[in-house]
Amino acid sequence: MSTGRLKIEWARQYMPVLGSIRKEFEASRPLANLAVGMALHVEAKTAVLVEALAAAGAEVHITGCNPLSTQDDVAAALNEVPHVQCYAKRGATAEEYYAGIDRVLDARPAITIDDGMDLIHAIHTKRRDLIPGIIGGCEETTTGVHRLRAMAAGGALAFPILAVNDTPMKRQFDNVHGTGESALAAIMITTNLLMAGKKVVIAGYGFCGKGLARKASGLGARVIVTEVDPRVALQAHMDGYQVMTMDEAARVGELFITTTGNIGVITERHFAVMRDGAVLANAGHFNVEIDRLWLEEHAEGVVRRDGIDTYRFGGRSLHLLAEGRLVNLATPKGMGHPVEVMDLSFALQALCTWYIALHGRRLPPGVHEVPGEIDVAVALRKLATLGLSIDRLTEEQSAYLQSWSQGT
Ligand code: NAI
Repeated sequence: MSTGRLKIEWARQYMPVLGSIRKEFEASRPLANLAVGMALHVEAKTAVLVEALAAAGAEVHITGCNPLSTQDDVAAALNEVPHVQCYAKRGATAEEYYAGIDRVLDARPAITIDDGMDLIHAIHTKRRDLIPGIIGGCEETTTGVHRLRAMAAGGALAFPILAVNDTPMKRQFDNVHGTGESALAAIMITTNLLMAGKKVVIAGYGFCGKGLARKASGLGARVIVTEVDPRVALQAHMDGYQVMTMDEAARVGELFITTTGNIGVITERHFAVMRDGAVLANAGHFNVEIDRLWLEEHAEGVVRRDGIDTYRFGGRSLHLLAEGRLVNLATPKGMGHPVEVMDLSFALQALCTWYIALHGRRLPPGVHEVPGEIDVAVALRKLATLGLSIDRLTEEQSAYLQSWSQGT
């Protein structure tokens, strides 16, 4: 077996929810003869999703959604699968990256699955001829959903997209536990540094930031949170973390992890006051949170190790991981989210793709919520695989919850 195939089979064992959906897809072939275009991180768990969609009858064309997150052996293994074409390559130049997007679009997909909205962007800016043939799509991440909502608000989005990211079964698990564990794991394995006792600055206390703070704190780190939303900052405070501005945190932090989905969070004035040996990592979708270009242009010297660029300034060293790209996927040993978490996210993606195939033509253009039944179905399947049972509402309880007449 090839290394890529071994990785895919390893992941598959721990993805029983997606496995159960695949079995049903094999029998009912709900995507028969539909071209599905995907731009996702091409690694083992994604491959399990791709194979489930192919088993449903789809012709799947996939490329990466980040130049550094592709695992080439997994991409090669996918190209051995009937009805699957993979165009992704690790370390793609910008030109190669966008060529991969173009090749997916050349397949004229009827359904799109994005992680960051790059397919949708390319369709709406340079391949508008494809729009009449597109039923709809799905979006995996917060940044992609933000971009889609901005498009929809401007009346620019031409077909329906399900905001898979926004549903509880995705972001309460993938963003919180997935990013929390995998970003810290990638940082620790890349740097070989200790978390216990370290001053870890988390920029952004959203779903990902909460997971990162909780897990880093569990490892003994002294967590500092920076935020722009006063309500969220207060949550961080009451969850037991120190809250301060990045200007203050820059002076004291030893490890910085950005996860805001925003631009210019750590910049020149922060670099200027950081302590010698500070480590910088980004877990947000795009590589715009830490101003790497400034570091590249102004450092007195750069030492490049695998996954770590060290910038020298007046006797100090600042270490940037994975060129400021998604640290959990773009470091050389970054494996992305833990398998069990992606079982949930990709079970949602599989069911949402099926939903779009079935109902997309009747949905108006815009960003749509994942139907509650799909979210609940994934939770129930996962509980079943864990052998966990939960209570059911009695008729009396259901009636009570829907009534307003009964007080104390
Ligand atoms: P979220 O919207 O729940 O949280 C973002 C938080 O950052 C918000 O509380 C916001 O107030 C805060 N924020 C915005 N600008 C800020 C600034 N300048 N300084 C400090 N805080 C600021 O978003 P979520 O779901 O936590 O996602 C964050 C990013 O992580 C997105 O780019 C998303 O696409 C990405 N993501 C990455 C994953 C990975 O594998 N590394 C997985 C899932 C999401």
